[in-house]
Amino acid sequence: MTANPLPHPLSLAGNGVVLREWTPDDLEDLVAILDEPDIARWTPMPSPFDVEAGLAYLKRARQGRLTGRRIQLAITADGGVPLGEVLLFGVDPGLREAELGYLVGAQYRRRGLAVAALSLLTEYACGTLRLSRLLLRIDPGNTASTAVARRCGYRLTGEPPIPQEGPYGPTSLDTWEYVEGLPGARRERLRNVASRRYGRRT
Ligand SMILES: CC(C)(COP(=O)(O)OP(=O)(O)OC[C@H]1O[C@@H](n2cnc3c(N)ncnc32)[C@H](O)[C@@H]1OP(=O)(O)O)[C@@H](O)C(=O)NCCC(=O)NCCS
Repeated sequence: MTANPLPHPLSLAGNGVVLREWTPDDLEDLVAILDEPDIARWTPMPSPFDVEAGLAYLKRARQGRLTGRRIQLAITADGGVPLGEVLLFGVDPGLREAELGYLVGAQYRRRGLAVAALSLLTEYACGTLRLSRLLLRIDPGNTASTAVARRCGYRLTGEPPIPQEGPYGPTSLDTWEYVEGLPGARRERLRNVASRRYGRRT
């Protein structure tokens, strides 16, 4: 990928999910998803996350999409009700790197949605955008998120932890990476998606 803006609008389908653009009609669902303790704990979202926060969030998402600086898509089953979100931002065209993030609404968790969405966006970022190294920043205490990263073929790097001020005091974020072409990375991701589809786990 070059310094070109990221594609908009975008819809990606696969792994049993459809990733689509947020719309103003999603406000109520967005607030219901983001106004939640685990989101407040593990992401930089404001808490409580009210309608005003939702409006600001959708506005910022739209600006980021129109300027082509980020990909920010609702995770859905079929293009309808939003169940979560997956993002790609911080593109470095020179290094062909970007950072990704994800969250899933509390009542939709443990169904493989985060793994499905992250795998799909990872594949798009490497295959279509031609990015070669994708990063996740994860608090080591966030076991759900580290499990998602691992299942999608990301691995923990030895980069120094990034200090953060969280709602429960100081914490730090580890850096995980997905390197396209690294033996095992793609195979691991495909194996996990396939095993999930057929009801087995590796
Ligand atoms: C992290 C998060 C996105 C996971 O979403 P999800 O759709 O439930 O994840 P998946 O169903 O794809 O789970 C994949 C694996 O993660 C692990 N996992 C998920 N939730 C877990 C939990 N609460 N505790 C331990 N492991 C967990 C499981 O190993 C699961 O595999 P399994 O199917 O064998 O159980 C969701 O918990 C969330 O939104 N958390 C708050 C926001 C957040 O932390 N975002 C990431 C910031 S870095």
